[in-house]
Amino acid sequence: MPTATPESFTRSELEAYWMPFTANRQFKSKPRILAKASGMYYWTQDGRQILDAVAGLWCVNAGHGRKEIAQAVAAQLETMDYAPPFQMGHPPAFELANAVVKIAPAGLDHVFFTNSGSESVETALKIALAYQRVRGEATRTKLIGRERGYHGVGFGGISVGGISPNRKMWSATMIPGVDHLSHTHDLAKNAFSRGEPAHGANLAEELERLVTLHDASTIAAVIVEPIAGSTGVLIPPQGYLKRIREICDKHGIVLIFDEVITGFGRTGSAFAAQEFGVTPDIITAAKGLTNGCVPMGAVLVKKAIYEAFMQGPEGAIELFHGYTYSAHPTACAAGLATLAIYEREGLLTRAKTLARYWEDAAHSLQGFPHVIDIRNYGLILGLELESIPGKVGSRAFEVYSKCFERGLLTRQTGDILALSPPLIIERPQIDQIFTTLAEVLKGL
Ligand SMILES: Cc1ncc(COP(=O)(O)O)c(C=O)c1O
Repeated sequence: MPTATPESFTRSELEAYWMPFTANRQFKSKPRILAKASGMYYWTQDGRQILDAVAGLWCVNAGHGRKEIAQAVAAQLETMDYAPPFQMGHPPAFELANAVVKIAPAGLDHVFFTNSGSESVETALKIALAYQRVRGEATRTKLIGRERGYHGVGFGGISVGGISPNRKMWSATMIPGVDHLSHTHDLAKNAFSRGEPAHGANLAEELERLVTLHDASTIAAVIVEPIAGSTGVLIPPQGYLKRIREICDKHGIVLIFDEVITGFGRTGSAFAAQEFGVTPDIITAAKGLTNGCVPMGAVLVKKAIYEAFMQGPEGAIELFHGYTYSAHPTACAAGLATLAIYEREGLLTRAKTLARYWEDAAHSLQGFPHVIDIRNYGLILGLELESIPGKVGSRAFEVYSKCFERGLLTRQTGDILALSPPLIIERPQIDQIFTTLAEVLKGL
């Protein structure tokens, strides 16, 4: 077991780091500092063991401290630390693209590499818009997202996204021509659903309404998370995604699934697209691609889209887009080692074998104080608490803090706790998660 590091920071030493999506003043008055990680656990700076119920941030699907990944990254750094991705290639980039295509839904057979989920989203939106143009549909410039959607923090992502605090500061500079579908969260009809909720497929018809309003000839793409994560876990209603697909097909609209959290085994299939039997035209991915070890994202694209760009003089660059660190060799090495672990250990489908146990354990919390919904899919849980009037988020933050004191890392968003453990989790650890949550909820 790793030992604790003895150092701790003074308040002023904590100030230099402006922490992302963090209540900086609150955090810095009572820091939670993680120092080591292995398997299913973190260790805090003062040596406490913490069970990771969130795979870091939905990314460490194969568990922490995987030696194979560390060795692959080290070997790659020694062989070749960096290679320019523009007009140059290197073996791990092609190997990883092929390895991703191998597990992707049939037909999504081209991969563009990025460095994060946000960059994957910006890339996917740009590819969709450019695709409409290169195929002669240049009037299709509008993008449709969904309320409560999270698509990262780029301007495209926050524009198609639907989380108000992520948007309001920048409302004047959103990209133009964006509309939103309604979210699918309906506690009155679907509270305590197991798996896909029964009600809400009709909400897909809103896409027809938007097509009527704007005209299909103006709409380039629709982007949705198959399971919305950051907003607090919204499972798609039965039939909803299929209907969105049908409407997109009918009107020539590109369908993008943002699978940054659902990719790489979270639902029990490699991608949620396979799990729900609906194939989009583009998938955005990141997180689990490298087990969170090295930042990397990917955009998976259907052949027809890729091929639409392969025209004009052979010496012409087909897509004026890319990053200095697209297909970075160390990220590719980490990705290849990660996918090899997933395959060897059957992790891309392991969530399916644990899903029922996870679901039963989760729903055992029904009836606990302030619990107004429990929703689950694969190894995902959303536990929604009744908000304290005027203090949205404070109740779930209390649960989050108390769980952390008891050695459990959860994730809080508003008054919802979202759990997504590493896919290597064992049943006793599932028990530990829900026993801890039960103790904390009882004490509220
Ligand atoms: C669905 C979805 N898209 C995009 C992102 C952004 O990813 P990143 O934080 O790597 O930019 C996230 C992050 O959680 C996400 O959940």
